[in-house]
Order: sequence, then C-alpha cells, then structure tokens
Amino acid sequence: MRSSLNFSVRVVALMIVMTCCVLLFLTNNVEGVIGINWGRMTTNRLIPSMVVDLLLQNGIREVKMFSASKNVLEAFSKSGIGVTITIPNQVLEDLLDPQAVERWINQRVIAFKREEVDIRYVSVGADPYSKSYNNLTFYFASDVLKVVQTGLNDAGYREKVKAIIPHFFDVLNTNISKPSEADFRPDIKNIMVDLIRFQKENNAPFFMDVFPIYYVHLRGWDPEFAFLDNKSNFSIVDHNGLKYTNAFDFLHDSFLWAIRKAGVRDMKLVAGQVGWPTDGYPNASPENAERFYKSLLPYVTSNRGTPLHPGAPIDIYLHSLSDENLLKIDRGAFQRHWGIYNFDGVPKYKIDFTGQGRDIFPTTARGVTRMPQRWCIFNGDVSNVTKLKTEFQMACQKADCTPLAPGGSCSHLDFTHNISYAFNMQFQMTGQYAENKSCSFQGLGKVVPDNPSIGTCVFPIEILAAEEAVAGVSFGAALLGAASGESIHRVCGLAMFLPFLVAFLDSV
Ligand SMILES: *[C@@H]1O[C@H](CO)[C@@H](O)[C@H](O)[C@H]1NC(C)=O
Ligand SMILES: *[C@@H]1O[C@H](CO)[C@@H](O)[C@H](O)[C@H]1NC(C)=O
Ligand SMILES: *[C@@H]1O[C@H](CO)[C@@H](O)[C@H](O)[C@H]1NC(C)=O
Ligand SMILES: *[C@@H]1O[C@H](CO)[C@@H](O)[C@H](O)[C@H]1NC(C)=O
Ligand SMILES: *[C@@H]1O[C@H](CO)[C@@H](O)[C@H](O)[C@H]1NC(C)=O
Ligand SMILES: *[C@@H]1O[C@H](CO)[C@@H](O)[C@H](O)[C@H]1NC(C)=O
Ligand SMILES: *[C@@H]1O[C@H](CO)[C@@H](O)[C@H](O)[C@H]1NC(C)=O
Repeated sequence: MRSSLNFSVRVVALMIVMTCCVLLFLTNNVEGVIGINWGRMTTNRLIPSMVVDLLLQNGIREVKMFSASKNVLEAFSKSGIGVTITIPNQVLEDLLDPQAVERWINQRVIAFKREEVDIRYVSVGADPYSKSYNNLTFYFASDVLKVVQTGLNDAGYREKVKAIIPHFFDVLNTNISKPSEADFRPDIKNIMVDLIRFQKENNAPFFMDVFPIYYVHLRGWDPEFAFLDNKSNFSIVDHNGLKYTNAFDFLHDSFLWAIRKAGVRDMKLVAGQVGWPTDGYPNASPENAERFYKSLLPYVTSNRGTPLHPGAPIDIYLHSLSDENLLKIDRGAFQRHWGIYNFDGVPKYKIDFTGQGRDIFPTTARGVTRMPQRWCIFNGDVSNVTKLKTEFQMACQKADCTPLAPGGSCSHLDFTHNISYAFNMQFQMTGQYAENKSCSFQGLGKVVPDNPSIGTCVFPIEILAAEEAVAGVSFGAALLGAASGESIHRVCGLAMFLPFLVAFLDSV
C-alpha cells in the first residue's frame, strides 16, 4: 500500500518534472521575432510614449528606427522593448574616426543603456550598398561597422549590442533564375565577404530587406507568388530540387546562398524590412497587405524555415508602423504608404501581430488629438488658370499629393477637386494655421466646415503633431544636426530596375 502510494507520488512527481522540462524546452526554443519599423519622416508625428504604448498593447517587442533621436529613445526606457537605432548614411563618413565613434556610442548607446533602453542593434547606414538611391553606394560602410562594433565591444557591449548593415536585394546579382545562382554584386563581393566574416566572428546577424510585391513585379512573375498562402500556380525548382512557392523564400534563400558562397554557413538572417504598401503601386492595397501579413506572420512563428534552411527561426521587422508623408517619392508614390497604421494611429486593416493568424484589428493608438473639423478647398475661381496651376504645384511640393497619382486612391478626381485636395493637404500640414494665410493660395482657397471627401478619396484632417518634423524638401543640413532627424536615404530603392515607375510628383 505504502509503496504503491509512494510509486504514484513518484509517477506524479516525474510527470510534473517532465512537464516542466517540456515547457522549459518550448519557452527556450528560439522563435522567430516579429518587430516593426517606425519611421518619422512625417508631419504627423505621434508622441513617442504613445507609440511605446501602442507597441506594448499589441505585444510587439522589437522596434527599428531610422535615426537615434534622444527624445524618442528616452520613451523606450524600461519598456522592455528591444530597440534598433540607425546611423544615417549621410553621417557615416564622420564615423570612420574611432574617437567620433566613441563619442557617438557614449551619447547614443551607453547613455540610454544606463536609462534601461534596451538597444540591441546599431544599424550602420540604411541600405548603404544599394545602388538604387541617386546611384550612390557608400562603399566604406563596412569600415564604419567595424569601428562601431569594436567600439561597442571595448565598451563592454560585445554580447548585448550588435552592429548591423541592412541590405536591399540589389546587393545580389539580379539576373538569377534560381536562389542557388545568387551571389553578391561583383563591385562589392570582396567587401561583403570581409564584412560577413567579421560579423560572424561577432555573432551578429545579416539584415536583408525583402519586398515581394516589387520583386515579383520586377521579374514579371505571377503576382500570387508574392504571397505565402500557396495560391500561386507558379513555382520555381532550384538545381538541387528544392521547390519555391513564394518570393519571400526565394529571396531569403538567395541571400543565404550568397552568404554561403562568402564562406559562412550558419549566419542568422533577419528581414529588417518586409511589408506591403497600400497605395501608389500595382497590387498595393489594404486588402492585399492584410492578405500578405496573414500568411507571413504565422509563417514566422511556425519556425518552418525556408527550403534551404528548414526549421531556422527568422526574425522580421514589419515595414512599417505608419505612413510617412515627407519621404521622398523618387521611386513612386507608394513610398509614402507603407503604414499598417494611418498617420493618426488607426489601423488600416486586420493584422494579428502575435502571428496566430487571427482575424483581428490591432489596437488603435490612444490619446491622439485631431485638429478641428475644418478643410481648405479651391473656391472655384478659374479666371487665371496659370496662377491656379502654380498654386496647385506649389502645394503639392510642400504637402503630400501622392494619392492623386495614377493608381492612387484619389486618382479619379477632376481638375478642380485635384486642386482642393492639394490645398487641403497643405492647410492640414501647416496645422490649419491662421486660415487667411495657410488657406489663402493667392485668393483661391476657402475654409469649409463640411467634409469634402469623395468616395474612397479621403480629405484628411491631421492630428496635432507631437513635434515638428523637418519639413519640406530641403532637409539637408538640418537633417544631420537635428536630434529628430531621420534618414531620407532609405527604403525601397529600385529606381534602376523599375524605369516604368514614374516619379510623378517630383516633376510637378
Ligand atoms: C551610375 O553610375 C555609373 C558609373 O558611376 C554610370 O555608368 C551610370 O550611368 C549611372 N547610372 C545612372 C542611372 O545615373
Ligand atoms: C548574370 O550576369 C552576369 C554578368 O552579366 C553573368 O556573369 C552571370 O553568368 C549571369 N548569371 C546568370 C544566372 O544568368
Ligand atoms: C504551403 O505549402 C508548403 C509546402 O508545400 C507547406 O509546408 C505550408 O504549410 C503551406 N502553407 C500554407 C499556408 O498552406
Ligand atoms: C491554378 O490552377 C488551377 C487549376 O489549373 C486553376 O483552377 C486556378 O485558377 C489557378 N490559379 C491561379 C491563381 O491562376
Ligand atoms: C495670372 O497670375 C499670375 C501670377 O500668378 C500673373 O503674373 C498674371 O499676370 C495673371 N494673369 C492674368 C491674365 O491676370
Ligand atoms: C490630378 O493631379 C494628378 C497629379 O498631379 C495628375 O496626375 C492628374 O492628371 C490630375 N488630374 C486632372 C484631371 O487634372
Ligand atoms: C479672413 O479673411 C476674410 C475675408 O478677407 C475675412 O472676412 C475674415 O474675417 C478673415 N478671417 C480671419 C480669421 O482673419
């Protein structure tokens, strides 16, 4: 009796121990992380603490930013959110000097680490080896990375903070038809081999930017191949027999092949930007963005891996949190429409950030204050068309008119509504400031209390921005110095691959 009781106690104890072990194993099992990019090139800047709250509400534990603004970093203190900060391309050259790097690390990393800001990655540049921005390549970026990582190591952050460089897919040869044909571009091959080996020694991952919507369009493949839900009848079988049913796997394994050819086998790959725009590009829409993420996120949490590396966890950073109306649009209107959220912190579509694929809207930002219900429209005076066109063009140079571009949500407007749209965007952007000034337009504008939106074309009222963004087109020097500066040199190259992408508004 006693011994049988003892036996069952032992069985129960054993079971408890085993359960604990299994649980421990499960929680220790490294799972792909879903983070998000937060760019702030916008007149509608959300308050940083509001964004921290939004991320926590949604269970997002990693954020990547395109600058290292002090006021923003402060907001992440004790939040438990992992943070990536970026050294913009324009200041890379200054950081070839180890002393400058030491100062930078003191001010932007150590100071905030002390305030319990969990900085995990320092991004050295934004796609510095891409050729798609003004034909500029920052060949010395890898030298800066070495100085930065060495500086971090010397400061005692070897294990905690990694220097990384994000890579747009044009760092690879572009004429490949199978992933195993991938290699780095000849002009950067030696640099990349050296860089990857250095990063491997420091146990740092390789960051790649992956945009299936473009890649598929560029290659002229079935648009369905851009999604991960296996609806495409198009697939690619590599020389080794591995089958590719979507562009994400294709791109991931192309990078993996190039890295292996550089002599490194088990480097961790992180998708530093992966997303789907909602306007201004073929197949860009909230519906398609929802569908894309609905298969991508469960894919990440499933740890399924890719054909070439099954079972490998993949970290991704969704691109991006909200629209940015000051981003350059030299590659197309879509550059301003990457947001999962509208500028006002309202989600555009359903997405389950936990990766469980549930049909749910994410949390809306709390505490956003909108400006009054006032719009500025064209008063109908067509007596001087030259003047009218000039005012229209000037408004669109300052404010965001990308929805008017072909394929955009307001592309169906007639000439006069076009003008109203432009006037309103500038009026809102200037904070509805002194109506007889910001809605003057040489006597062509008038303020109205009724919403002039037309169908799917929304005439927005903007929010009270937390701080002023570097406005207009001439960021230049202000950008480099400003604490709130952001890199304008980032996101979505491709100009050279997509000549059909007219830079509509640049010419306006
Ligand atoms: C980019 O630069 C290369 C050489 O520096 C030049 O041959 C090429 O024409 C340039 N391309 C563009 C689009 O400016
Ligand atoms: C891609 O182009 C390069 C240079 O033009 C060539 O050497 C290489 O063989 C091509 N690769 C494939 C897979 O066609
Ligand atoms: C797609 O197909 C692959 C293998 O062909 C399978 O592993 C995966 O679960 C499928 N995904 C979906 C969303 O059906
Ligand atoms: C894929 O093929 C099936 C059967 O041939 C066809 O019914 C379906 O419409 C195709 N799907 C697409 C997206 O072309
Ligand atoms: C139209 O307006 C412009 C200034 O925008 C002015 O120079 C021009 O004289 C005007 N034309 C007429 C016919 O009033
Ligand atoms: C409205 O403005 C857009 C952007 O400038 C332009 O492409 C379109 O042709 C304009 N529509 C009309 C009717 O003028
Ligand atoms: C704006 O100008 C109009 C007409 O010129 C005038 O009636 C109105 O009082 C002015 N509004 C303000 C706020 O100054």
